[in-house]
Amino acid sequence: MSAEVDLLKQRAAERAVELVESGMIVGLGSGSTASHAVRRLAVLIQQGKLPDVRGVPTSKRVEQEARALGIPLVDLDEVSAIDLTIDGADEVDPDLNLIKGGGGALLREKIVAQISRREVIVIDDSKLSPKLGTRRSLPVEVVPFGWRTQVSYLEALGAQVTLRQQGGAPFQTDQGNLILDCAFGPIDDPAQLALRLKARAGIVEHGLFLRMATEVIVASASGIRCITRSA
Ligand code: A5P
Repeated sequence: MSAEVDLLKQRAAERAVELVESGMIVGLGSGSTASHAVRRLAVLIQQGKLPDVRGVPTSKRVEQEARALGIPLVDLDEVSAIDLTIDGADEVDPDLNLIKGGGGALLREKIVAQISRREVIVIDDSKLSPKLGTRRSLPVEVVPFGWRTQVSYLEALGAQVTLRQQGGAPFQTDQGNLILDCAFGPIDDPAQLALRLKARAGIVEHGLFLRMATEVIVASASGIRCITRSA
């Protein structure tokens, strides 16, 4: 990633942290953009500017990072709702539907997103896309048992499928599952595809986040734009 893109990610993330208020339960997203938000949040907490804020991490990695930075954490099972989550995305369409899961944390990210009052997505403008699937593959999390049978199913739905690897071995999610990266090309009907994926035993979750983002903060060379999803 270039220094310029990283700076844009930082700007978007830091703008989102301005939405955090004292006493809030805050969902801590995963990935390089969300990580800027975590670091900024830690600074404000340390300066005493955000008392009583507690974070809910969306991955083991961000949990470790947040602990190391001194952000107070709370278990998801101990809260009834999350006030605001700040997370990244891999692709964002004009309706603020998303592809997420580039970092493999899609399952926990979606669990946190679905109980968040505000799901604020922070991106640089390279993530904007006319149609989901145009720029990125769709990550699909599957249980290891019989994973090859899911490849055939996903191919029949029109995807070119790759088992995600890390360090020469299959990538393992925080739940011990596998990720199949599915190149569909532009997806005409994401809602229909989401239904087909959810209907299949062994597919645990997919990276289509439809109607979940309430706001998207986009940083570009010309400034920052905040887009709110229309109801
Ligand atoms: C993590 O699983 C993903 O959903 C990330 O939110 C997404 O990949 C964006 O990552 P970056 O902020 O690193 O681009």
